[in-house]
Amino acid sequence: MSVGPRVLAIESSCDELAVAILDRDGRTILANIVHSQVELHARYGGIVPELASRDHVRRLEPVFERALTTAGVGLASIDGIAVTAGPGLIGSLLCGVEFAKGLALGAGKPLLGVHHLEGHVAAAFLEPSAPTPPFVALLVSGGHTSLIRVEDLGARYEILGATRDDAAGEAFDKTAKLLGLGYPGGVAIDRLSQGRDATRFHFPKMMPGKDNLDFSFSGLKTAAAKLIRERERPLEGDELGDFCASFQSAVVENLVQKAFRAARLQRIPRLVLAGGVAANSALRARAEEKGRREQLAVYLPSRIFCTDNAAMIARAGWARLGRGESSPLSLAARAYWPLSELGPGAPS
Ligand code: KG4
Ligand code: ZN
Repeated sequence: MSVGPRVLAIESSCDELAVAILDRDGRTILANIVHSQVELHARYGGIVPELASRDHVRRLEPVFERALTTAGVGLASIDGIAVTAGPGLIGSLLCGVEFAKGLALGAGKPLLGVHHLEGHVAAAFLEPSAPTPPFVALLVSGGHTSLIRVEDLGARYEILGATRDDAAGEAFDKTAKLLGLGYPGGVAIDRLSQGRDATRFHFPKMMPGKDNLDFSFSGLKTAAAKLIRERERPLEGDELGDFCASFQSAVVENLVQKAFRAARLQRIPRLVLAGGVAANSALRARAEEKGRREQLAVYLPSRIFCTDNAAMIARAGWARLGRGESSPLSLAARAYWPLSELGPGAPS
């Protein structure tokens, strides 16, 4: 068992405010508090950035205190502070980054800025059966859809493919909105699809090019919008469930085919699923089933570690702080920050 720093981590890149404490073994989570703003934004049908950052400012102190109380430790016993420095909503990011700087300065602890997507990938390392690098990661969230070759956590990331338009989560959320299911819609589509007929509605297959690893969801979204518009009455009941299941299956099939293709092309039999959409039941089931058939190991972080949380940020921070990296107190929050820019050496 490797021993590293006990890390307190803060995640506030979007509409979730989370604080976690990860112990020195890099596995034991002493606290994992997530304060969701879903109710705050629900009536607007999407995230209102100004409301998100104002709420973060209000909640930071109590959520931080709750994490320490839950863990039963004091700030003095923390070895390092990790914080999501980007990418995300700039106002939201600033709240966490400035709070973390205050803690690091006040308590004399090293600070580390974490890339949100490195955090998502790190989620797989919180599970007892962590992947052995190198591996391919399918990163599917509300803002990103990418296939990444991961040489090691905290090392360099090679982007193998990315979406040309919408992210997978966005496709779920926009279609859910058209169906009147509210925001965020991915979870609602997942729930309504349970046990329903995924062959009832037809969606276009999108697999251009044999070795192409890019994604595109705009065609699927347009097809969904057209099917919904052409109806005389809104979809409901079993029909609504079948529609959700059919749409979900089309998204999942695309993601799974491309992810397995990437692993095959890289000759790496290990695939990690990460990001909010990796919590989707159909995606998890389909990837596991195909993995069993094709003898490819599929790593699925628990659902709570797929959607935004601070435990994953703590785990990414643990790896970098553990090898002596730290960010300066002038650490900048970055709304735009390509993962390919990351490498060994702490973000500044
Ligand atoms: O990673 P995440 O929590 O935040 C970002 O970094 O974007 O991902 C949020 C996205 C949303 O689009 C949400 O609808 C989607 O993940 N999502 C799901 C499920 N749970 C969350 N999509 C499909 N099925 C789910 N069960
Ligand atoms: Zn995320």
